[in-house]
Amino acid sequence: MNPEIKIRAATWADQPSIVDFLRQMNLRGEDILIPGTRYWLAQTADHALVGSAGLEFGEGACLLRSVAVASDYRMTGLGRELVNTALAYAREIGCKTIYLFSVSSGSYWLRMGFQKIPVDELTQALPEIPQVLRFAAIGKLATETGWKKEI
Ligand SMILES: CC(C)(COP(=O)(O)OP(=O)(O)OC[C@H]1O[C@@H](n2cnc3c(N)ncnc32)[C@H](O)[C@@H]1OP(=O)(O)O)[C@@H](O)C(=O)NCCC(=O)NCCS
Repeated sequence: MNPEIKIRAATWADQPSIVDFLRQMNLRGEDILIPGTRYWLAQTADHALVGSAGLEFGEGACLLRSVAVASDYRMTGLGRELVNTALAYAREIGCKTIYLFSVSSGSYWLRMGFQKIPVDELTQALPEIPQVLRFAAIGKLATETGWKKEI
């Protein structure tokens, strides 16, 4: 990973820039940093936001979301570093299983050690977390794919 890029936990003050960044990456920007979640961001030395990852906390399991790296910074290990940072925190707070939704990045998640699962398995494990409630409300669950990893 580029040594000039630093990963740190996001604060509420970072919320608007994370939402902007996610929308630029064609990812959803709702529910970022609301209670029961934690986010990390990657910044260059001049504070440009070039990567993000988020966790939503359930009972013994967490949902990983908002994993994105700006196109000029891809394929250097930054995505893996962001994922590992979030997973280390998940482990610390007692999450034994990590779930995520992904329709188009399956090959990446396979490489990161995730396995494909039915969406119902994800929603049963994490029925109350923000992204599940959001996707249920907008009718998106039917077209989603679930992924999980034991940590
Ligand atoms: C997916 C994404 C986060 C990867 O970030 P990245 O910083 O380029 O990834 P890394 O450099 O850490 O790559 C880690 C490994 O995955 C591989 N990889 C990277 N992008 C990949 C892709 N799109 N498909 C399959 N494998 C991929 C790398 O070759 C590397 O493999 P290795 O460790 O065996 O060498 C980035 O492409 C992105 O932001 N995409 C748009 C947003 C998105 O789709 N996010 C996922 C939402 S579910």
